[in-house]
Amino acid sequence: MTFRTALCDLLGIDYPIVQSGMGAIAGPELVAEVCRAGGLGILAGLNVPPDDLRAMIRRVRELTNRPFGVNLWLHRALRPPIDPGEISDEVLRGAQGMLNRFRQRLGIPTTMARPNRAPDLMESTIKVVLDERPALFSAALGWLEPGLADECRRRGIKVMAMVSTVADARSAAADGADLIVAQGGEAGGHRSIDGKPASPDATSVGVMALLPQIADAVRVPVVAAGGIADGRGLVAALALGASGVLLGTRFVATRESMAPELYKKRLLESDSGDTTLTDTLSGLWARALANRFTREYTESGAPVLPPLVQRGAATDVFLAALKRGDPDYYPMMAGQSVGLVRDLPGAGEVVAAVIREARAVLRALPERVRET
Ligand SMILES: Cc1cc2nc3c(=O)[nH]c(=O)nc-3n(C[C@H](O)[C@H](O)[C@H](O)COP(=O)(O)O)c2cc1C
Repeated sequence: MTFRTALCDLLGIDYPIVQSGMGAIAGPELVAEVCRAGGLGILAGLNVPPDDLRAMIRRVRELTNRPFGVNLWLHRALRPPIDPGEISDEVLRGAQGMLNRFRQRLGIPTTMARPNRAPDLMESTIKVVLDERPALFSAALGWLEPGLADECRRRGIKVMAMVSTVADARSAAADGADLIVAQGGEAGGHRSIDGKPASPDATSVGVMALLPQIADAVRVPVVAAGGIADGRGLVAALALGASGVLLGTRFVATRESMAPELYKKRLLESDSGDTTLTDTLSGLWARALANRFTREYTESGAPVLPPLVQRGAATDVFLAALKRGDPDYYPMMAGQSVGLVRDLPGAGEVVAAVIREARAVLRALPERVRET
């Protein structure tokens, strides 16, 4: 049995459930499992070198012949990556000084060095996506280059752009996106916007208010993201004008996700109020579980390095925390939906459960509404 919407027709899937292409979380096993269950899995392309991305795409094809997507960030801080040479000595000293406090606690060497510049993977990874022709190119945190949507269309690849404001939804549709993801402020991970606003407020409108406005503003199907982890969320999103839902946090806590055990365990123990919007983890605004790293960094007032340079500088801290099994210094992106996540099922079971629950909600609705 299916549960079809315009999204299913556009992508050739049974159920309007999309698994987010979460960086370092969504590998071929997770993607294939979601696809086999009738949803749409998306591979994470963030920071993946082109040859590895191609190998991951081919691995998905070994595991399933169902349609799937590939996600890339298009953020301007990646095209090309920001040169750490441009950071002032004062900002560098402040940030490394703060990180050194964590390094000392974790027993790793302190440093005042300038982080290395990240490799520029943008063009080469876009080329892999165009060559390999997945069913969907999922673009986040940035603009489609002129002509990129046309190039995808010529190759039979649908383009999905994630936005967090109505204005960006209009621009993405005008730039040729076939689908728009409306990312509400509840969402886990980074706010999907190019650049970095001084405050995350403008990109943190809740999905209940944002989704119907975006559905009104564009003519292409809209997918709801943020705060959704079960069938109630799916039905609510459909009622607000969406053609489907994109889930992140729910899929982090699945058997097939690549998240380390300490992160999955913390997710299951956390409530919605345990998340925070912070720029201390990567230099960009993101919703994550608050821990000693995010709290102490923010409270200190220490400067945060530019977008993604911050992430590069803190990587030794994160790896040391992982090695010690210490979630207090490990980055754990999570949305407010974390309070709905209490088990660690297989990803296919998540798809099946959301649909089962949505059917039950739809059946029960007429009894809950008495019209006279
Ligand atoms: C751990 C994690 C990593 C994420 N990484 C990405 C990413 O690499 N690319 C992307 O487009 N969205 C990413 N997102 C954001 C999701 O696409 C989506 O907006 C969000 O997960 C929806 O909210 P939810 O977490 O409440 O389901 C990530 C989300 C999480 C939780």
